[in-house]
Amino acid sequence: MSEHLFASLQADLDERASQGLLRRRRLLGSPQAAHIRADDKDVLSFCSNDYLGLANHPALVAAMQKGVEQSGVGSGASHLITGHHEFHHALEQALAEFSGLPAALYFSTGYMANLGVVAALMRRGDAIFADRLNHASLNDAAVLSRADFQRYPHNDLSHLTRLLSTSKAPRKLVLADAVFSMDGDMAPVPELLALCERHDAWLMLDDAHGFGVLGEHGQGVLSHFGVQSPRIIYMATLGKAVGVSGAFVAAEPVVIDYLLQHARTYIYTTATPPALAAAVLAALEIIRHDSERRAHLHTLIDYLKSNLQLARWRRMESDTAIQPVLVGSNEEAIKLSEHLLTHGILVPAIRPPTVPKDTARLRISLSAAHTIADVGRLIDALHQAEKGWL
Ligand SMILES: Cc1ncc(COP(=O)(O)O)c(C=O)c1O
Repeated sequence: MSEHLFASLQADLDERASQGLLRRRRLLGSPQAAHIRADDKDVLSFCSNDYLGLANHPALVAAMQKGVEQSGVGSGASHLITGHHEFHHALEQALAEFSGLPAALYFSTGYMANLGVVAALMRRGDAIFADRLNHASLNDAAVLSRADFQRYPHNDLSHLTRLLSTSKAPRKLVLADAVFSMDGDMAPVPELLALCERHDAWLMLDDAHGFGVLGEHGQGVLSHFGVQSPRIIYMATLGKAVGVSGAFVAAEPVVIDYLLQHARTYIYTTATPPALAAAVLAALEIIRHDSERRAHLHTLIDYLKSNLQLARWRRMESDTAIQPVLVGSNEEAIKLSEHLLTHGILVPAIRPPTVPKDTARLRISLSAAHTIADVGRLIDALHQAEKGWL
C-alpha cells in the first residue's frame, strides 16, 4: 500500500521533471538585496518582491530588534486569546490611516488573509467572479468558500458584465489582483467598481504588488486611481514592498468586526511575533516620508521600458515593478534564465501552472535597491542572449 503511494508520488515528480516543470529552492546566503548570495554564488538578483529595498533596511532591523527586546520573540497565543499585542494593535490603526480606509485587520500572511476573508464573507449560493489571472490564494479562497465560482478572461469587463447581470445570487463578490503578480499590469479598478455598484456586488482587491509602490505616498492602487467606496474590501501584503511579513485587510468597520468573529485563518492561528508589527510600523514611516525611494524605482521601470528592445522574446506591457519577458516554451525560458545566471544575473523562469501554458516567462522584478547600472547590465545581457540565440 505505502509502496504504491510512493510510486505514484514519484511518477508525478518524474512527469513534472520531463515537462521542465520541476521546481527547486535556491539557498540564500545573504539578506534580501539587489546583490545576493544564492547557492554559494554572488549574483545580481531580479527575483525578489522587495520592491523598495526595505527587507534589510537598518531602521527596520533596529525596530525589529527593539521590538524583540520589548515583546520577546513569540506571541504565545492567538489574537483572540492573549496574543494580540499593543504592536499589532498600533499597526492596524496605522495601516487603516495610511491606506485611507476606516478599519484594518492584520493577518499572518496574504495567503491566509485571502482565504479568511473570502471564506468568511461568502457561502454556498453566493457568487464569486474572479479574473482568470488572479493569484492562487484568491482561487483557493473561492473554492474554500463553497460559493459559485466563475472566472472571467483577464480584465475582460464585458464578460464580467454578462456574468454579473445574469447572476441571481444573494451576495456577489468580484475578486481581482490589483497588480497581476506574473504580468505586472493593473486591474481597471474604477471600471470594476462601477460595475460592482451597478450590480450591487462587493469588490475585493488584492494589492500585494501595488501597496508601497503605487499612489503618491505608496498607499497603493486605490490612491493611484483615486477611488474609494464602502463596497471595497482591500487586501495588501507586508512581505513585498513593505519588506517584512504579513498582510492586512481594510474595509468598513462592520466588515472588520465581522471578520474578527468569522475569519478562521485569523482566529485559529498563533498571532505573529509582535516584533514583526514593530518592523512594519517602521517601514510605513519610510514609505510615507521617503518618496525618493519610490521615485527611483519608477525611474528604473522607465529605463528598462525604454531600453530593452527584444525581437524573439517580448517585454510585456507593465508600469509596475514587475516587468516580465514573455518567452513561450518552458525549456527556452529555463535555458534563458540559466544563460543569464552564467553571467551572474538571477531572473526566475516562471512556468505553468503559475502562468498559462506556452507563456513561460522571465519575471524581472525591479527594486529601489537596484542602480541604473544594474538594470543596464540586465538589458545588455538580454540583448546579447537574443543575438546569440540558436
Ligand atoms: C497577488 C498576491 N496575493 C497574495 C499573495 C500571498 O501573500 P503572502 O506571501 O503574504 O502569503 C501573493 C504572493 O505571495 C501575491 O502575489
